[in-house]
Amino acid sequence: MKDRYGRKIEYLRISVTQNCNLKCIYCDPEGDNCKEDMDNNLSPVEIESIVRSMAKIGIKKVRITGGEPLVRSDIVEIVKRVSSVKGIEDVSMTTNGISLHRYARQLKDGGLKRLNVSIDSLKEEKFRMITGGGDLKKTLEGIDMALDVGLMPIKINTVLIRGVNDDEIDDFINLSKDRPIESRFIELMPIGDFGEKNADKIVFNADVINERPYLKYLKRSDKGAPAQYYTVEGYQGKVGFISPMSHKFCSDCNRIRLTSDGRIRPCLGDNGEVDIMEMLRKNPGDLDKLIHEIVYNKPIGHHFGEDYSSSRKMSRIGG
Ligand code: GTP
Ligand code: 5AD
Repeated sequence: MKDRYGRKIEYLRISVTQNCNLKCIYCDPEGDNCKEDMDNNLSPVEIESIVRSMAKIGIKKVRITGGEPLVRSDIVEIVKRVSSVKGIEDVSMTTNGISLHRYARQLKDGGLKRLNVSIDSLKEEKFRMITGGGDLKKTLEGIDMALDVGLMPIKINTVLIRGVNDDEIDDFINLSKDRPIESRFIELMPIGDFGEKNADKIVFNADVINERPYLKYLKRSDKGAPAQYYTVEGYQGKVGFISPMSHKFCSDCNRIRLTSDGRIRPCLGDNGEVDIMEMLRKNPGDLDKLIHEIVYNKPIGHHFGEDYSSSRKMSRIGG
């Protein structure tokens, strides 16, 4: 369906948990592994019924996020249930990859089509520092396993932070050389304390691109997706740039979000949310109408750069 600004909404991002096994400096440095989260999470059956309602209004793509989705022990069941919904053509996941080697095959068999993996440094010690103790080797092992089972291409997400990991840009680009990997650079958004207080550490993608004239612009095939891609001659994979801070792409936005505690958040950078948990549990027959109304009223765009503070940390939205 189209929202009131004429945007075709066909992409749902589902955060299945707020918990994470890492504590990234810009996302959730305190780490929020609370038991209440487990108790309040939507169950696989509930997620499936919401996706069924969403499919009726034209949602075709679903991305599963967190927190870290692979900390949920029923994650494979979630993937299977979402993939089984009629009308859903593409089920993907964004993960930090730490537990990926254990799950890659089951996820693929369960219907997962695509995988995005967050890596902010290719140096073990720095990776540990940025993630609050994470082991880079595990994530790299997970990527190898995912490629082995045919989950490809894999997109690598890197949030560039001036003075922290901007010396590794070429190393990330080189990941795309010999394997079906798309390395992507993301401008740091003001979501959570670190992003709000460190606007001076944003690395603008235009600068990264201008310094590398060998990057060849690729015409966008998917207008609703946030990344602009470039190719490098002779490289198997592409290089992508997600630039929410320098280039507002809200007019092409095709997505809405569902939080693990049962709220629809139609825009990443707008605090408006609607709780659908109660209706789902008590009055499921009315859910389709409510979802239609929420999607129709999706806000015009994010408020980054304005006097705005996100009501949720990124780990509670899922990116
Ligand atoms: P695909 O296009 O399906 O591969 O997914 P994606 O790139 O949207 O998903 P991913 O979870 O890998 O997100 C990459 C980055 O894009 C993260 O930093 C997200 O927060 C950001 N992002 C995703 N959707 C939006 C959006 O609607 N608005 C903004 N500003 N950023 C977004
Ligand atoms: N700005 C930009 N990207 C972010 N992510 C998490 N927090 C931020 C932020 N403040 C990214 C993660 C992950 C994706 C879901 O969102 O690195 O790859």
